[in-house]
Amino acid sequence: MVEFTLPKNSVVQKGKFFSAPEGATRIKRVEVYRWDPDTDENPRIDCYDIDLDQCGEMVLDLILKIKDEIDSSLAFRRSCREGVCGSCSMNINGKNSLACIKAISDYKGTIKIFPLPHLDVVKDLVADMTHFYAQYASIKPWIETQTPPPADSERLQSVEERKQLDGLYECVLCACCSTSCPSYWWNSEKYLGPAVLLQASRWLNDSRDENTGERLDDLQDPFKLYRCHTIMNCTDTCPKGLNPAKAIADIKKMLLVRQEG
Ligand code: SF4
Ligand code: SF4
Ligand code: FES
Repeated sequence: MVEFTLPKNSVVQKGKFFSAPEGATRIKRVEVYRWDPDTDENPRIDCYDIDLDQCGEMVLDLILKIKDEIDSSLAFRRSCREGVCGSCSMNINGKNSLACIKAISDYKGTIKIFPLPHLDVVKDLVADMTHFYAQYASIKPWIETQTPPPADSERLQSVEERKQLDGLYECVLCACCSTSCPSYWWNSEKYLGPAVLLQASRWLNDSRDENTGERLDDLQDPFKLYRCHTIMNCTDTCPKGLNPAKAIADIKKMLLVRQEG
C-alpha cells in the first residue's frame, strides 16, 4: 500500500493505493470515499486495483472483496444482495444505485463509489438515514381503518384493487431517488421527497385504507408535497425502475379533484 495525492481542486486530498496481486491480468480500479469521524480530520479517497478473475460480478462484490481481503475497516450497508432490502444504496460513478444489482461490466474504466449525496455520513459509505426514516413514519405507512373487519375474513381486495398498488409496493426505500432530487437537497427538512411521497401514494391507493381524507389533508402543504418541480432525477435514478415523479403528480391530481369536487 502506498499513499497518493489527488488533484489540488479535489475536496479530498489524500488516499491510500492498494495494488492488485502479482500476476493479475483483468484488473479493475475502484476509488472509494473513506471517512471515519473518530480518527479522520478530512475524508479521503482510497484506490484499489481488484483482480476481476478473483471477484464476483456485481459492484457489491468489489466492495465485499475489499472489506474481506484488503481493508476490513471499510464500512457500508448490505443484506440481501438481490435488490430487495434497499440497504446497499450508494453513489456509483455519479448515479445513485443499489450496488448489488449493478454489474461491474456496465462500467468502463475506474469505478468511483461515494455515499448517497446530501446526507450526513456516519462512516465511509454509510449515510445517516435517521431523518429519511422519520419522514417515512410521518406518512403513517400502515393501513388505517374506522370500520371493523369482516367477521369471517381478512380485509380482502379484488384483483383490480390490488393492481392499483403495482409500481408502488415494489419500492425498497433505498433513498436513491430522494438523495438525487435537487428540491430534496435544498429543502429536506420540510419537503418529504420522492421516496416518501411514492410511499404516501401507495397508502392513498390501497382500497382497504379508510383514512384517505386525512392523508390528503396532511400532504396539502407548500413544502411537504409542492416542492417537487418535476425535475425527474428521481425517476431517472430509481434502481427498481419505479416512477416517483408520476406518483407525486398523481397525489397532486387527487388533491385537485378533491378541491374541485
Ligand atoms: S420530479 Fe420532483 S421529486 Fe423527482 S427529482 Fe424532480 S423535484 Fe425531485
Ligand atoms: S422509489 Fe425507487 S429509488 Fe426511491 S426509494 Fe423506492 S426503490 Fe429506492
Ligand atoms: S444488498 Fe439488499 S438491495 Fe443490495
